[in-house]
This record gives sequence, C-alpha cells and structure tokens, in this order.
Amino acid sequence: MIRGSIGKQKNTSLMGEYASLIGEAILRQRTREAEHAARIEAELADRVKSEFISNMSHELRTPLNTMIGFSKILSEHDKRRIPDTEIVEYSKLILDAAGHLLSVINDILDISKIQSGRYTLDAREISIEDVIQATFSTGRNAAREAGINLDCEIATNLPLVRGDAAKLQQAFSNLVSNAIKFTLKGGAVKLEAVRLNDGGVGVMIRDTGVGMSADELKLATIPFGQVDGGRARWREGTGLGLPIARSLIELHGGQMTIKTEKGIGTEVGVILPSSSTINIREARDAVLGSGGPSLF
Ligand SMILES: Nc1ncnc2c1ncn2[C@@H]1O[C@H](COP(=O)(O)OP(=O)(O)OP(=O)(O)O)[C@@H](O)[C@H]1O
Ligand SMILES: [Mg+2]
Repeated sequence: MIRGSIGKQKNTSLMGEYASLIGEAILRQRTREAEHAARIEAELADRVKSEFISNMSHELRTPLNTMIGFSKILSEHDKRRIPDTEIVEYSKLILDAAGHLLSVINDILDISKIQSGRYTLDAREISIEDVIQATFSTGRNAAREAGINLDCEIATNLPLVRGDAAKLQQAFSNLVSNAIKFTLKGGAVKLEAVRLNDGGVGVMIRDTGVGMSADELKLATIPFGQVDGGRARWREGTGLGLPIARSLIELHGGQMTIKTEKGIGTEVGVILPSSSTINIREARDAVLGSGGPSLF
C-alpha cells in the first residue's frame, strides 16, 4: 500500500517535472519564434526605410527632369524653330510627366492623412457597378499598351454600397494597375464583381503575373515597400498603391486579402459589406502598425 502510494507520488512528481520541462521548451520556442518574427519585421522596415529616399527622389526627379528639359526646348522656340508635330509631342510628354508627379504627390498626401487619422470619406449610397466599370475603362489603355488581356465580369444583381465612389475607384484602380504592371506581356488580368450571400459585394482582381513569395508579400504591404525595391527595380512606383488601397477598403468597413504564388500570379479579394460601417481608426492603425516610414 505504502510502496504503491510512494510509486504513485514518484510518478506524479516525474510527470510534473516533464510537464514543466515541456512547458518551458514550448515557451522558449514561442519566444524564439516571436523574436524571429520581430527581427524579420525590423529588417523589412529597415530595408524599406533605406530604399525609401532613393526611390522617392527618383520618382520625383524623373518627371520633374522631363518637364524642365522639354519646356526648356519649347521656350527656345523663337531662337530655333520647332516643327508643330514636335511641339505637340513635347507638350504631351510634359503633361504626362506633370500628371505622374501629381499622382505621386497625391499618394504621399493620402498616406500621410491616413497615418495621422485625418482621412475623410464622402460616403453615400453608390452603385459599385459604376465604380468597377470606371476602373475597367481606366485600366484598358494601360493593359493594351502592356499587351495584356484585361477582362471584366460584373454580376447584374449587385446591391448598392455605402461609400465614397472616387476613393473606391482609386483603391480598385491601384489593384488593377498593379495586376497589369506585374504581369508580363501576353498575360491576363481579370476584374470580377459578385454579390455575396450576406448581401455584401466581393471584388476579385486576378493576374497571371510574377506573383510573390510569403516574405515578399509582407514587404509589399508596408507603405513604400516594394519587392526588388533597390536600384535594380524593374518597374516604376513609390510602393504606396497597395497600402492605400487596403486602407481605403478598410475605411469602408471592408477587407482585402491577397493570395499570391511566385511565378504563377496574384489574386486580390475585396469584401465590402452591404451597408458599410466607416471605421477610420482601424484603417489608421493597420497602416501605422505595418512598420513603413511614417510621415508624422
Ligand atoms: N499583382 C501583383 N503581382 C506581383 N507583385 C505585386 C502585385 N501587386 C503588388 N506587387 C508588389 O508589391 C509592391 C508594392 O505595391 P504598391 O502598389 O504598393 O507599389 P508600386 O506598384 O510599386 O508603386 P505605386 O503603386 O505607388 O505606383 C510592388 O512594388 C510589387 O513588388
Ligand atoms: Mg502599385
């Protein structure tokens, strides 16, 4: 009897020791994992910060140099006569460069307003079908120039959504522009809008482009973060399109998810509730919490 209970006690204390050893091992593993995740986040943020200045100065200087160079040529028209066709061509180049510069500046102002919680929406009942149609129309030229097949499918039973049509179009245009930009010639991009069972709207933007690895995706969602964001960038941009799109969608009470596979393509899914609740704080926290350079 006594021996049995001593044996039982021994077993129980052995079990207790094992349990605490296992508990400690799990805790150590979790701490290691948390440290590893924090280190990766910090490395990503550092990388974005160091590429930020050189990318931004490139993005601002390139259009400015175009504008200065061609307007200088035009201003010397009285000394050296320029054919009409060249005047038109140079003026278009200046106009394009000015438009590009304006959109870069607008993006910087948008992300800074979002980061400081000062972003406001002009929310009303809107037709999401019109928003998707307008997005499709603006994407068509870029797709044609890039040799990409852009397709659009909109369900006929879409509900009205409460939101800011211009901001939602900006968000979807950013996503479609990415899909076109990061898909090689001959590839395909599809924009699709469906009614969800709960009365909300689902919008999908799928491409057969270069895709991203899991680590690259983390980098891509940080403000100013770009895959291959260094000097050898193979595409232009400031790295703001994706975080701005996500914030605008979250401001509408929606959600954005990204499924992507390196070398296969990317699918961005957006869910907008039927009657959106506008939640500026969540969108702001999402952007502020993601580690990119803060403008405030
Ligand atoms: N559909 C996509 N396929 C592959 N990579 C993508 C896709 N969308 C975004 N990315 C990656 O994510 C990065 C960040 O995208 P984001 O739209 O924020 O910036 P950008 O397109 O580089 O510049 P911007 O949109 O400010 O002109 C891109 O540089 C690219 O590396
Ligand atoms: Mg972009």
